[in-house]
Amino acid sequence: MSSLLIDKLSMRFDLPNGSSVQALQDVSLDLKAGELLSILGPSGCGKTTLLNIVAGFLAPTAGHVSLNDKVVTGPGAERGMVFQQGALFEWMSVRENVGFGPSMKGMPKAEKGQIVDHLLDVVGLQAFKDKAVYELSGGMQQRVALARCLANEPDVILMDEPLGALDALTREKMQGLVLKLWKETGKTIILITHSVEEALLLGERLIVMAPRPGRIHKEYHLPFAEMGVNQDLREVKRDPRFSDTREEILSMIWDMEEEIMGRAETA
Ligand SMILES: Nc1ncnc2c1ncn2[C@@H]1O[C@H](COP(=O)(O)OP(=O)(O)OP(=O)(O)O)[C@@H](O)[C@H]1O
Ligand SMILES: [Mg+2]
Repeated sequence: MSSLLIDKLSMRFDLPNGSSVQALQDVSLDLKAGELLSILGPSGCGKTTLLNIVAGFLAPTAGHVSLNDKVVTGPGAERGMVFQQGALFEWMSVRENVGFGPSMKGMPKAEKGQIVDHLLDVVGLQAFKDKAVYELSGGMQQRVALARCLANEPDVILMDEPLGALDALTREKMQGLVLKLWKETGKTIILITHSVEEALLLGERLIVMAPRPGRIHKEYHLPFAEMGVNQDLREVKRDPRFSDTREEILSMIWDMEEEIMGRAETA
C-alpha cells in the first residue's frame, strides 16, 4: 500500500529584484493509499507550487516529500499529473496519446493495445481512438489526459484544475468520472480546484490553504465523495450538510481575499 508523506515543506522563490516570496511554509500532510484529497484556496496560496513539488518538478527549500518511504527527488511514473488543458501530444491520435507511456517503457504491442483499449472503454472514448486531438471537444481531451495518466499505472494522480476549462455540464459529467475512477482504481488522488462545490464533491478529505505564506488553514473530512459514487451528484449537492459546509468555506475564502485586498491597499 502506498502512502504519500509531505513533511514540513517550505518553498521560497527568490526574485531577480532581491525580494522573495514565501510560497509555502511548513506544509505537512500524510495521505493513505486510495485517499482522495481536494485543495482549495485563494489565488497565490501555493497550491500549484505544492503539487509541482510532489510531482518532482520543483525542489523545496525545506522539508521533503516521500512516497512509500522513498524520498521524491524528481519526476517519476508513480506520480502522474493531469494539467488544466493543452498537455496532450497534438500530432498523435487518441490511441497513441494513451499508449505513450507504455511505448516509452518498451511494452510489447499486443499488451499495450489491450491496456489502451481498456482505458479508452473506461473513459468512454473507444469510438474516438483514431481521431486526432484537435478533433475532440475539451471534455474529451481531458478524458484522454486521464486515460494517458492511468496508462502509466501511477500510485498517485496529481490534478491541477483539471476541469477548470470545461463548461458546466461537461464539468459535472467529468466529476462523476473522477469519482468512478477513484473507486475503481483505488488510486491516491490530489485535486486542486477553484470551485468550492467541486472540492466538496471530489474530496473525502479537503484542505483549505491560506496565502502569504502559503499554508494549510483548515482540514475537513467529508462524506460527499463516497455518496457521489453511487448517487446522482445533484442529489448529493442538495444534502443540507453540503450547503452548510459550502457556505462555511465560501465565507472563509471570502475573508482571506478581503484580508489580501486590505493588505495590498495599505502596502
Ligand atoms: N517560479 C516562480 N518564481 C517566482 N514566484 C513564483 C513562482 N511560482 C510561483 N510563485 C509565487 O508563489 C506564490 C504561489 O504560487 P502558486 O502558483 O503556487 O499559487 P496557486 O495557489 O496555484 O495560485 P492560482 O490559484 O492562481 O493557480 C505566488 O505568490 C506566486 O507568485
Ligand atoms: Mg495554481
